[in-house]
Order: sequence, then structure tokens, then C-alpha cells
Amino acid sequence: MQPMDTLGRLLGDSAPIAEVRAQAARLLRSAVSPGRRLPPILILGETGTGKGLLAEAIHRDGARGNGPFVDVNCAAIPETLLEAELFGFERGAFTDARQAKPGLFQSANGGTIFLDEAGLLPISLQSKLLKVIEERSVRRLGSTRNEPLDVAIIAATSEDLPLAVQEGRFRADLYHRLAVVTLNLPPLRARGRDVLLLADDFLARICEDYGLPTRTLTQDAQAALLAHPWTGNVRELTNVLERASLLSDGPRLTAQDLGLVAARRPETTREPAESSGDRIELTAIAAIASGIAKGPAGDIAKTTIAALIRVLCPSDGRLAPENPARSAGLPGTTSSTLTPTGPSSAVA
Ligand SMILES: Nc1ncnc2c1ncn2[C@@H]1O[C@H](COP(=O)(O)OP(=O)(O)O)[C@@H](O)[C@H]1O
Ligand SMILES: [Mg+2]
Repeated sequence: MQPMDTLGRLLGDSAPIAEVRAQAARLLRSAVSPGRRLPPILILGETGTGKGLLAEAIHRDGARGNGPFVDVNCAAIPETLLEAELFGFERGAFTDARQAKPGLFQSANGGTIFLDEAGLLPISLQSKLLKVIEERSVRRLGSTRNEPLDVAIIAATSEDLPLAVQEGRFRADLYHRLAVVTLNLPPLRARGRDVLLLADDFLARICEDYGLPTRTLTQDAQAALLAHPWTGNVRELTNVLERASLLSDGPRLTAQDLGLVAARRPETTREPAESSGDRIELTAIAAIASGIAKGPAGDIAKTTIAALIRVLCPSDGRLAPENPARSAGLPGTTSSTLTPTGPSSAVA
């Protein structure tokens, strides 16, 4: 059977994402030989950083890729049900147990169980989970018999687990058992230009899914994507792009279409100041000189400061007057010749 490359769906060229893919690939290589199992894996990352995607990719690309992948959101199942759901029960184990039922661990036999939001697992179940991991067997509620299990365990959390351990919300022994192999998914805002790469890929996919004409991003949209904090990470990015694609008319999406504040253009898109820089400095000096020559003392100070601000912080439109050169009495000089990126770079 051809090995799959589901891991390749975790897109991104940034160093931390390349590193996570490489670590996962190394783990998978170490577990290909018969009898070698994957150790428990802990994936850390804020919500929407791709923990579920990574967990499923590790499963699909691994030796159990054709087996079941059982995704359990530990935060979504009420505490009273979680134990029965995870470990199963015998008939009569509790009032409503009219029929025996295998748990999610048994359903994952021969495959992988993905314990999402494991940091929120009730403390009462944490010791049971540790036992399942260590003994590689599970005992249903109301049973006296252990059933052997062949299940890879991947846990994920957005919690600060060491802090949870310190505060007594998470068992230290379970933490150490789970954290032997830890993969860190950084927040999207720490992945540099990956946001643009992801945006292009998602836009193409969204337009195909909805049968929309191809949509691309304007420069101000790209700058806004790079500047946005993305507290909801990749999930927030997909939502923003989906909404904008569906609600905007034109093929070019602007920062406004995305519902994001247009940002200062990143340094790399500025024109190299070499040639324009000299001109700007000269213009500014001329403006200052002209101001000194013409204005009354109060105006001179204002004009001088404004001209300096224009040169030193060209995109800080709030500090500078509309046109410092003109106010300094220089005919035919527009403010755009004083700002290397032009007025459009300072949309606040
Ligand atoms: N690096 C990535 N490349 C492509 N898609 C991604 C990436 N990271 C996340 N996604 C997508 O973003 C969405 C949220 O990811 P998910 O795995 O559910 O995050 P989490 O489990 O950390 O909350 C999913 O649709 C997922 O496929
Ligand atoms: Mg998830």
C-alpha cells in the first residue's frame, strides 16, 4: 500500500510549521516496523491552530491509517456521561444501562483515539485514562474483565497543562505520560507569511466549492491579513475568507471586503528608499527652511515638527497635518512626495 501524505495538508512554509511536519514524519518513520507502536502524543496549540488536522494526519499516514480514527471532544460530553462513553458499560451497570455498550476506546481498537481538549478531562477520569494507557486494556463500567486494546492515543489541548498540574486540576503522572512526545502548533500570528499562503489555498477551495469565479486579494487585503492578530487562528481565517467570497461582488477582495482594518504595508513591500529617500529628505529640509524663513515663531515650530514627523514616521497620518510642505509655503509640493509609501499606506 502506498504511504499517504495527509501531513502535507498541514500547509505552511514558516519554520515552526515545517518543524512540526518534520517531527511528525520522524515519529511515523520510527513506528513503521512491525511491533513498533506510536507513543502517546500530545498536541499543544490555541484553538483553530490545526490540532485536529495534525492528529488525523498522523493517524492516516501511520501504520493504522486504515483503522478507525475516533475523535472525542472531552469538553463537549457532560462529565456524568464521559466515563461511560469512553470506557463502555455492561448491562445494568447503572440505571439506564439496559444494554451493554462498548466505549469509544473499544471503537478505536486497531486505530487511533483522539482526545481533544484533554486538559479539561475531569480529574476523576484522569487516573482511569492513565491506567488504560499503561495497561493497554480497558474495563467497562460494571465489568470485572479487562479487554486488551491496540489503540494509538493522541491528546490535544489549548490549556496550559503545567499550570493545570500546579493548580491540581491535572494529574502530574498523566501529564508526564502524555507529554513524552509533544508537538507545538504555533498561533497563526507567529507564522509570518503563511497566512497569505493559507489564504490563497482557501480562496481557491472556497470558490471551487461554491462555484464562484476566482477571487484574489488586493495588496491592502494582504497587508491586513498580515497585521490581524487571528485569535481564532486558521479557523478564523477560513471563516473570514468564506464570508468575504460570498458577500463581495468583485473578483478582487479588499481589506474592507474581509472586514479587516487595512494595515500599514509590511516593510518588504515598500519601495527601496535609496533614490526617493534623498529626495524626501531634501524636500523636508526645504520645507523646514522655508517655514523658518516665512512663518511667525509659533508656526515655524509647528511646520518644522510636522515636516520631521512626515519624514520619520511617514505613515503616521494622525500626527502630521494634511500637507506640511504646502503649509510651509513650498509651492507645487504634495504630501505624497514626502511619504515614501504614499498616503494610502496610512489608512487608520
Ligand atoms: N496548517 C494548515 N493548513 C491547512 N488547513 C489548516 C491548517 N491548520 C488548520 N487548518 C484548517 O483550519 C480549521 C481548524 O483546524 P482544527 O484542526 O480544527 O484546529 P483545532 O483542532 O486546533 O481547533 C480546519 O478546517 C483545518 O483543516
Ligand atoms: Mg479541534
